Amino acid sequence: MNFTIAPLDATKTKADLLVLAVFEADLTDKKRRNAVLAAVDKRLKGLLLTTAAEEGFKGKAEQSLLLHTHGKIAAARVLLVGLGAEAKLELEALRLAAGRAAKAAQKVRARSIAWAGPAAGDLANNLRAAVEGLALGDYRFDRYRTTEKGEKAPPRIEKTALLLPLGQKRSRLLDEAIALGRKVADATNWARDLVNEPAAVVTPKRLADDAEAIGKEFGLDVVVHGRKEIEKLSMGMFLAVAQGSAEGPKLIELTYLPKDAAAAKRPAVALVGKAITFDSGGLSLKPADSMVDMKTDMAGAAAVLGAMRVIAQLAPPFPVRAYMGACENMPSGNAYRPGDILTSRLGKTVEVTNTDAEGRLVLGDVLAYANDAHPALLIDLATLTGACMVALGHYIAGAWGDDKAVRPVLEAARRAGEEVWRLPLSPMQKDALRSDVADMKNSGERWGSAINAALFLKEFVGDTPWVHLDIAGPSQSPKDRGYQSKGATGFGLRTLVEMVLQRSLEVDEAGARPPNPHSGG
Ligand code: BES
Ligand code: MN
Ligand code: ZN
Repeated sequence: MNFTIAPLDATKTKADLLVLAVFEADLTDKKRRNAVLAAVDKRLKGLLLTTAAEEGFKGKAEQSLLLHTHGKIAAARVLLVGLGAEAKLELEALRLAAGRAAKAAQKVRARSIAWAGPAAGDLANNLRAAVEGLALGDYRFDRYRTTEKGEKAPPRIEKTALLLPLGQKRSRLLDEAIALGRKVADATNWARDLVNEPAAVVTPKRLADDAEAIGKEFGLDVVVHGRKEIEKLSMGMFLAVAQGSAEGPKLIELTYLPKDAAAAKRPAVALVGKAITFDSGGLSLKPADSMVDMKTDMAGAAAVLGAMRVIAQLAPPFPVRAYMGACENMPSGNAYRPGDILTSRLGKTVEVTNTDAEGRLVLGDVLAYANDAHPALLIDLATLTGACMVALGHYIAGAWGDDKAVRPVLEAARRAGEEVWRLPLSPMQKDALRSDVADMKNSGERWGSAINAALFLKEFVGDTPWVHLDIAGPSQSPKDRGYQSKGATGFGLRTLVEMVLQRSLEVDEAGARPPNPHSGG
């Protein structure tokens, strides 16, 4: 999809579909009516608002109304999408409305659309959110669908004109906001593809190849370690999980280093993504129904890889390192067994009580490895537990970590429109992982099982500020909704990008400020 900025003349803009995003007040309060809505309605001889009234369209979020224009304006159809109450507008509502518009455009096979957003709020942020919503909403994973005879797959939206409010001129700031929205949406759609592709396609080797391709395209250093090197790194837990599969494990590292030598010496942000390309459960085999979606068990890695694509282009003034331990969890004659005792990279021993609690084993070794580079902050994203889904459902991720580390991540998630809730790391719960024969076991009782997983990971991060995000729920959307399509969401990518943007601002500000003689450090 190609985005252009156009001066606002909604009635004269040629497009297959003209989209007007409107508030409730635009329909109920004549005095506060959006000028574009009023102009289009006038050219349509009042039919737009009359139909809206007849159809019960009140501008509520999730409502929309489609009308043919029969040549009365330049666009062939007009679509109203509701934003809800103006006072409650958040960028996420705009993103969702834009996503619905893209899906409606696909339904009527529109190739060109014109978007007229709300006059309220910050224009640059609004445009970025609209671009994200439109480009994400246009996503489909349909490359394996052959069409019935005569039936044509809906065309993609080719071009979108973003109409500016009256008197507003195009500027560099607006161009940059649109470009950023574009980068985020493209990376997210790329990550969605990676998760939606079957596990037979996205193997550990394929993840490593993709990481290398990203490195080449966006200028990141990429190192891939195979089984031999992972053995040398003493990652006993990672190797045990991988040993049942015919696919070899890959430890994948991507590094973004700022060009400026002083900036490159700053402490890094480290990102770790769970990269189980298929989770059968191993010998503690999953029931058939629970196994169907387990190609998604690398969604954390997909979000981290996608975020690295954007981060490389943003060029923050500090290093960002990404780590993934990619392997399959399979049952076989070589598979690790319940009862096995593993020695982790850190030397701690672990009794395996359930081979389906594999994510924490791989992550434990990879977190310990990431920690060797002494990052300022360590964040992991993992489809780690069904229990987190039981607690928070399909749309919300759980977050663990200490106050200081978690707060900026929750704030970034809020700005990104991704919902993340903090859960506790209570040491009382630690009994659940006590073992009679080793330092700990990998799975405890059912109760508090998402917390137990987080407590297990905490054993491997030392004193480094660390945040664990369990994205088992929101990594998949159960249905088409706003800009989401049923299937992979790329959840977490936008939060990571916001985090890095915010941290860049803070580092730049600290650099611009003269050193504070009273700060004692
Ligand atoms: N990959 C699963 C968690 C998962 C479940 C992700 C549903 C996405 C959707 C993980 O490896 C797992 O199997 N966890 C077990 C842990 C248990 C054996 C302690 C679980 O949550 O049941
Ligand atoms: Mn599992
Ligand atoms: Zn898993």
